[in-house]
Amino acid sequence: MSLAESVPHKLQSRIDNIIENVAPTPWLNDDQKADYEAKITALLKEKNAVLIAHYYVEDELQALAESTGGYVSDSLDMANFGAKHEAQTLVVCGVRFMGETSKILSPEKTVLMPTLDAECSLDLGCPIDEFSQFCDQYPDHVVVVYANTSVEVKARADWIVTSSNAVQIINHLIAEGKKIIWGPDKHLGQYINNKTGADMILWQGNCVVHDEFKLYELEALMDEYPDAMVLVHPESPEAVIAKADFVGSTKQIIAAGSASDAQTLIIATDHGLFYKMSQQVPNKRLIPAPTGGKSATCKSCAHCPWMAMNTLVNLYETLRDGTNAIEVDEATRQKALIPLNRMLDFSYQQGILTAGDA
Ligand code: 13P
Ligand code: SF4
Repeated sequence: MSLAESVPHKLQSRIDNIIENVAPTPWLNDDQKADYEAKITALLKEKNAVLIAHYYVEDELQALAESTGGYVSDSLDMANFGAKHEAQTLVVCGVRFMGETSKILSPEKTVLMPTLDAECSLDLGCPIDEFSQFCDQYPDHVVVVYANTSVEVKARADWIVTSSNAVQIINHLIAEGKKIIWGPDKHLGQYINNKTGADMILWQGNCVVHDEFKLYELEALMDEYPDAMVLVHPESPEAVIAKADFVGSTKQIIAAGSASDAQTLIIATDHGLFYKMSQQVPNKRLIPAPTGGKSATCKSCAHCPWMAMNTLVNLYETLRDGTNAIEVDEATRQKALIPLNRMLDFSYQQGILTAGDA
């Protein structure tokens, strides 16, 4: 087994163990929620802070980000918004790599997260020492990494991409005649290889959420709703992606589902996205793509355990106490900033990000 396969394989049981030990979200009644929301709103003002949330966090956190002048979006846009916003403190509700990306771009700002335990299986499955060793095996290759990685892995890369811009960036590198190493998501890497004809060498990491989407159950659902549009996040397995009418990042899925005439949308991504999607298209029928086989008790359980660790309670405590600040080593940050800025500049040049974004 190669390094690219054996390391993620070896780390799988550790990742499973972390997931099993995720603490359950505290239950709050409506009055308690309203109380937390009022206190958080006041603290945001008092501390000159802004809330930036990913589409996968709980609905109430997304709603609060919007009602307090913050932002809800995909990972590319979140990073961009934080860097451009005037607030001195960025409070990132998402997973750790998102907070770290904000800190790389805005070292002068305080970046807080409701919990620093919110990881990502892609990041966990791609440790810097082994990934660097893998890269060293191909010295004539350009190293392209997904944003779902640690600061150290980003610092080892020539390019960083997100699922919003990965295909365009790889096409650009192919046009320059480059040979490419890709990490860490094997499904996104394979999707890009199929789409662009690139022959990237792939690290074999995976997203524990999207990896669960099931082909046969999706086909059965498509038979039941033959007019439905199927929208799939590219971290999903190749066979599931092959069934999609549209493949894209979270933000792109919302835009494509909204623009389409289809009245039924089957969506293969974390169910947190349904909050924003149902606001955009309140009259469409939204159906989560299945993650469970015939005998499973949960037919669609696509929810990131780490995103779910962000709650009103730990958000309030973080803001109140100023805890859970993201810190990154300055030399590593400066190295990681180079491929990150390369990605942002490219995204602006190609119109993937516009001045109107964020
Ligand atoms: P997006 O860049 O599409 O928001 O995806 C981030 C992510 O972690 C998806 O699982
Ligand atoms: Fe990582 Fe998957 Fe969670 Fe996204 S959904 S943060 S890729 S584990």
